[in-house]
Amino acid sequence: MKLFIPGPTQVHPEVLAEMSRPAIGHRTEECADLWREARQGLAWLMQTQSEIIMLTAPASAMMEAALRNFVKERSLHLVNGAFSKRWYEIGAANGTQAEKLEVPMGEAVTAPMLEQLLKSEADAGRCFDIVTVVHNETSTGTVTPIADLATVLKAYPQTLLCVDTVSSMAGAPIPVDEWGIDFCLFGLQKCLALPAGMAIASVSARALERAAEVPHRGWFLDLLKLSAKNVKEQSPTTPSTAHLFALVKQLQRIREEGLENRWQRHVDMARQVQIWATEKGWHMFPAEGFRSTTVSCIARGSGPDFVPALDALKASGILVSNGYGDLKGKTFRIGHMGDHQMSDIDDLLQRFDQALLTAAE
Ligand SMILES: Cc1ncc(COP(=O)(O)O)c(C=O)c1O
Repeated sequence: MKLFIPGPTQVHPEVLAEMSRPAIGHRTEECADLWREARQGLAWLMQTQSEIIMLTAPASAMMEAALRNFVKERSLHLVNGAFSKRWYEIGAANGTQAEKLEVPMGEAVTAPMLEQLLKSEADAGRCFDIVTVVHNETSTGTVTPIADLATVLKAYPQTLLCVDTVSSMAGAPIPVDEWGIDFCLFGLQKCLALPAGMAIASVSARALERAAEVPHRGWFLDLLKLSAKNVKEQSPTTPSTAHLFALVKQLQRIREEGLENRWQRHVDMARQVQIWATEKGWHMFPAEGFRSTTVSCIARGSGPDFVPALDALKASGILVSNGYGDLKGKTFRIGHMGDHQMSDIDDLLQRFDQALLTAAE
């Protein structure tokens, strides 16, 4: 099956081969070297001096870690789709006061909206410990402009900026330090193009200081414990060494391609898909200016029904995603991420055209 879903995505054979290396002891020198190399490579990728945390877990674990480590009383969650909503639900499930600022799917919370809410809270003598935001909402292919929100937050230093970059890190520029992100998380199964299984996050110095003030951070997701083990280039628990081998290899491959080239390749693939979709009478679901370069979410509009074509593609070994939740049948999503090349997209779109013709007969 060839994957054009919004993650997990295709894994390059060279990277896959690294995963079948013999297991190594997780307290050995060899593993410490891998751990160090992976952390250094990730800091380069994320353009940050912050502490890099790696955990054998899905990315959602890091979403929960933000709540467990940084929230004493209140969290604010910017919601515009399924994954940003999940972060709000994680907040509510952890027993602290979780609030949301919600806009319709396909739109993004803007800086003036955030400013207005934070100001009215401050006027009432209240503040939030964190603001959570999903950079690239995978359920709708919608990008939220993080730098604008970070500028607003400068006036509220007690509020940490926590950003989910699960489906954009390594596919789009996300300069963590320049934007002032305190906690930036992602998994490996999207634009990094590895199998799922490891969660990554950067944690700023002031976020670590905040964690030290939170008494019950739990054990597994305790960022101070994880950061203390980093000093020995180790994890408190047994990490997936298969993922470490593959991650180090993939970071080398990304260096060889060059970050700018990689981001541009994603821009080009997205543009190709957008042109193709509009020619069909479909339209992009997110508003202009908020469209992802890694996940295209296409709405039916006046175009043909795409559902039979999705089924036909699946039967021929190509997986493209239907819409998420309530958007099923109304939208579909193409993941053009990781190691997909323009030739893969050209091939996919030709096959899609063919599947539409066959479905119409
Ligand atoms: C934006 C976003 N956040 C979080 C997640 C959750 O990732 P995981 O399934 O690795 O926990 C996903 C998964 O698709 C996602 O797209």
